[in-house]
Order: sequence, then structure tokens, then C-alpha cells
Amino acid sequence: MSNSVYMSPSVLGVDLARIADDVAKAVSGGADWIHVDVMDGHFVPNLTFGPGLVAALRRITDLPLDVHLMVERPEWYIAPFADAGASVFTFHPETTAHVQRHLEQVRACGMLAGLALNPGTPMGYAEEVVDDLDLLLIMTVNPGFPAQRYIGTVTGKIARARSLLNSRRSSARLQVDGGINRSTIGAARGAGADTFVAGSAIFDSDDPTAEVGVLRRLCETAA
Ligand code: DX5
Ligand code: ZN
Repeated sequence: MSNSVYMSPSVLGVDLARIADDVAKAVSGGADWIHVDVMDGHFVPNLTFGPGLVAALRRITDLPLDVHLMVERPEWYIAPFADAGASVFTFHPETTAHVQRHLEQVRACGMLAGLALNPGTPMGYAEEVVDDLDLLLIMTVNPGFPAQRYIGTVTGKIARARSLLNSRRSSARLQVDGGINRSTIGAARGAGADTFVAGSAIFDSDDPTAEVGVLRRLCETAA
């Protein structure tokens, strides 16, 4: 089982002085979700956004807001992001002791529950909680910064994640994030990913609106 393709442009790639314009370009290009990277300077070596940005985005688009928490103790932020209008809440298992409980709490707050695995994080974390997942994110870089290089060896891990979801009859989306561009998106799609985060590939391009469609078409021809 493989879902239809979703494109989730990452606002980490925008010019923050023009965020509303850049998001509007992605929306008009056919984006399905808008990806928001939340970093705390502890779990990853960078600082970014909080619920305030999600609330602001909520006022400028009706698209689902796909929030990726790269923070310690993500459970502290479930209700604040839900209240701000987040639609998807994805966190990393190393950041908290009670992963399954917090996935349940995310769903109880009306959001889709996602778990993110870094390139070096074992699939076992996801195997234990498949039934609690609406989304499994396989990181294709070590998170923290935009415009990093896709780690080619992770393609096999995407395929293992697809096998896991299929074998457990899960309809969870299989997302990839990091270094997704014209050269790499086909491999990720071929391995079974259905939801594609892209920051720099879209927002550093000459035409972000068109680039969303270019990446989507590359996926569709790879599948
Ligand atoms: C990785 C973040 C990504 C990042 C992707 O640190 O989780 O969402 O913004 O940026 P690109 O597509 O430029 O690798
Ligand atoms: Zn992300």
C-alpha cells in the first residue's frame, strides 16, 4: 500500500522577510502541506520557530501545517501547537521517555501523530508504535539545517519503512525530509515514500511555484 504523493515545502528554506509571499508561491504551485521545522538548540544545533509562527501561517493559508519538532521534551508543546493550528505533529523518539503516550496525546489534540527517525536511529522505535502512527518520517539528512546533502544509504531504510507499514497494514504516510531535490526525489519515491519535504530545492529555485510541480512530476514518473 502506497499513498498518493504529498508535497510539503519547508519554510526553513524561505526568505523570512518574505515568508507570506514565499508560502503563497508554494501554495499556488500545488503544495499539499506546509512543513514547519521547530528546533531548540539542544536536540539539534540550531534555533528556529515556535507556535507563534504556526499561528501566523494559519492566518495566511488553509493548508495543513506539518510541524516537525526537533526539540527535547516535545510533549510540552503538543497543546500549544494544537492551539496554534498545527495539523501534523512529528517528534523524534530520542527526545522523550514515553513515545507511545505522547503519540496518543497528539491524536487526542486533533493532530496527526508522526515519529521521525534520524539516519542513525533504528527502525525498532517505529516498529513498537506502528498502530499509533499517522506518519513515519525517515530523515534523509541529520537534521538541523537546510540545504544538506541527501544521504544515499538511507534509501534502503525508506524501503524497510515501507515494508514495515505494509506488513502491519498501516495507512500511515511515509515522509522523507532533507536534501530532497530533482536528483534525489525519484530514489525516495521508488523506495516507497509518499510525502516529500523540500526546502532549498523549492525556495532557492528561480520559480518556487513551478518547482513544486516539477518535483511532484518526478515522483509520479518514478513510482
Ligand atoms: C532538516 C529539516 C528539514 C529541512 C529541509 O534539518 O528538518 O525540513 O528544512 O531542507 P532542505 O530541503 O533544504 O534539505
Ligand atoms: Zn523537517
